[in-house]
Amino acid sequence: MNENWMEIKNTALKWMEDAGKMLKESLQDSMHDSLYVNTKSSPNDLVTEMDYKVERFLTEQINNTFPEHKVLGEEEAGADIQSTDGVLWIIDPIDGTTNFVHQKYNFAISVAVAKDGVGQVGIIYNVMQDEWFTAVAGEGAYLNDRRLARVTEVDLPEAVIGLNGRWLAREKRSGEQSLHTMVRKSRSVRSYGSAAIELAYVACGRLDSYISFRLSPWDYAAGLVLLNEVGVITTDFQKQEPSLLEKSKILAARPGLHAQLLHYVHNHEGFDY
Ligand code: IPD
Ligand code: CA
Ligand code: CA
Repeated sequence: MNENWMEIKNTALKWMEDAGKMLKESLQDSMHDSLYVNTKSSPNDLVTEMDYKVERFLTEQINNTFPEHKVLGEEEAGADIQSTDGVLWIIDPIDGTTNFVHQKYNFAISVAVAKDGVGQVGIIYNVMQDEWFTAVAGEGAYLNDRRLARVTEVDLPEAVIGLNGRWLAREKRSGEQSLHTMVRKSRSVRSYGSAAIELAYVACGRLDSYISFRLSPWDYAAGLVLLNEVGVITTDFQKQEPSLLEKSKILAARPGLHAQLLHYVHNHEGFDY
């Protein structure tokens, strides 16, 4: 079957707009601290009732409209999926849940659609800033109505890197290339608390790179489609393509810079974080 990816993107946009309204309304209601918050794997791994609500809403729309498509979501959907054959939606209902809870700002809904393991549609919706980062493979990437330019080469001393300080605090194994040196040699580092937003920022030039030592497919699947459209190189720390089903380390960077950063992170690939 030949899917119309542009039409699928436009359909997804409408559902995500409705999901965004649900999130904004929940924040108004929760001005009095009524938002139900829980922890998952650790005290810094938060989940709210809205993560489940948005994922269930999007999954239901997809199942009703495209019954033959599969859905993989962070919270519940598709936990048993073992293959990327066919059409697969990959959803993060709220990327940046800690921001959603603590800041009520800087969080996104991230939706990707892939066919046979190849990303075709990527949408990252930064809800409170009302910024839509969208891409259809081969058709370019957009920030709202503006087509994003292809990126050019850049060197580390001129680069701003998206990096969570948590990864620097963990560097203690001898023999590793020093992340501290990498940070010192860069122009600066930033951390926004939403991997999807940070990848979108690399796509539109607000960041030159984004690095993470542990992400899941729903954190980066939509970002991969966007980044590919503008020429940003996105791999794990061994220069391999990130998996759409398993966790991966992520190095997204403009050409030139990607090779320079790989030098500082490649020794970390074998380690669990
Ligand atoms: C998290 C955010 C955060 C990143 C974490 C992710 P969540 O996603 O993207 O920026 O550092 O690794 O798990 O839990 O808010 O969907
Ligand atoms: Ca996430
Ligand atoms: Ca999430």
